[in-house]
Amino acid sequence: MSRGSDMTGPGTQHTTARRGEPLPEGLLDDAERLSRDEVRALQLTRLRTTLRHAYDHVELYRKKFDSAGLTPEDCRTLEDLARFPFTTKADLRDTYPFGMFAVPMDEVRRVHASSGTTGRPTVVGYTENDLSMWADVVARSIRAAGGRPGHKVHVSYGYGLFTGGLGAHYGAERAGCTVIPASGGMTARQVQIIQDFRPEIIMVTPSYMLTLLDEFERQGIDPRSTSLRVGIFGAEPWTEEMRREIEERLDIHAVDIYGLSEVIGPGVAQECVETKDGLQVWEDHFYPEVVDPFTDQVLPEGESGELVFTSLTKEALPVIRYRTRDLTRLLPGTARPGFRRMEKITGRCDDMIILRGVNVFPSQIEEIVLRTPALAPHFQIRLTRKGRMDHMTVRVESRPGSDPARREAAARHIARGVKDAVGVTVDVEVVDPDTLERSMGKLKRVKDLREE
Ligand code: DLL
Repeated sequence: MSRGSDMTGPGTQHTTARRGEPLPEGLLDDAERLSRDEVRALQLTRLRTTLRHAYDHVELYRKKFDSAGLTPEDCRTLEDLARFPFTTKADLRDTYPFGMFAVPMDEVRRVHASSGTTGRPTVVGYTENDLSMWADVVARSIRAAGGRPGHKVHVSYGYGLFTGGLGAHYGAERAGCTVIPASGGMTARQVQIIQDFRPEIIMVTPSYMLTLLDEFERQGIDPRSTSLRVGIFGAEPWTEEMRREIEERLDIHAVDIYGLSEVIGPGVAQECVETKDGLQVWEDHFYPEVVDPFTDQVLPEGESGELVFTSLTKEALPVIRYRTRDLTRLLPGTARPGFRRMEKITGRCDDMIILRGVNVFPSQIEEIVLRTPALAPHFQIRLTRKGRMDHMTVRVESRPGSDPARREAAARHIARGVKDAVGVTVDVEVVDPDTLERSMGKLKRVKDLREE
């Protein structure tokens, strides 16, 4: 008998493996039951309040609106938002650390910050109400993923300035779950804890899930035999092929959670376990737009471009038309008809590699690698310069026990797949199992050696 999808409560017998049950009516919160029209009406009221709050309390917004000749009251419909200026990461960096906070510092209960590997970190702040709203949207996300009060949630997102760990943590508590605050790292111990504490749910980056999976196997434990039924994966792009790999190897449901620190952290959008058809944007708190990254024009529903968010209820750090750099498209709601969905993120504007004039995303390489049975799901992209030409090498691990002929064939298969699907010539190196660096959190797929 397979386990994995009866999510009615702990200790129940699980009978089917792949289909999730829709959330029982009683577990939907009020906003999740709103019609599309009701959501839009709520959004407009909240948007106008947010624009006024930002204008009155953040100098940067006041200057931006003034120079565009706009007052908050010029936003009379949701569509009017398109007339307002964008906000970027650079705005947050320029006002480092607290210059965009819209409340006095003694009302700020917590700060988080991005790692700042490129330039100054960006700092974000939360009032008491912000923290409560954040816990609410993460709790809603966990329920949509199949989590129920009484479930144990193993959190392997990093705790600290990164929003992943604490964001998941307080959301799981709010959902009535028992939190296991494992954080990232100490992989062997995490496996031990999962075996001993028997969580139903794990929240972790998909790449660190692969690291954990390998560790289960190293310890001689069948990953399909664990107590886990649902994985809530995010903080980095991952493909449908990766979903299949993780679901098969662990016998769980793998669903996607999206968010970014500037908007709140995890819990901006969440995939529902019963549909697995993209992420419902929690539109009562976050208003999404998709814009053409080059012309800045708002694109109609269904067209792909850069995702832009405006917060609707945030107090400490309201964001107006924040450019996420993430690429996706908006679609009508399904499991929650009042809210639109966003398609799984295919990449970021900044991840895009331009190789001899062709745009390449790491996710395109991931799809091809994960469809090649002789290869493990661990790969790295290296960019070098040969003469004046940029060159890409895909280094990918073989599965244990693959003979040299199978490896050769697999390498040719990848090179051909990339040429056919993406249109560029790449070198492929198949390396021994366990040789590529493993993820401990967010994975850095691309090694750019062109400047060295
Ligand atoms: O990564 C928040 C988070 C934590 C989300 C845990 C989900 C789970 P930042 O560190 O600010 O915040 O990074 C935000 O990560 O703009 C995307 O590029 C990427 N990202 C986050 N979730 C997803 C996802 C957190 N589900 C940046 N799919 C975002 C693809 C994602 N990319």
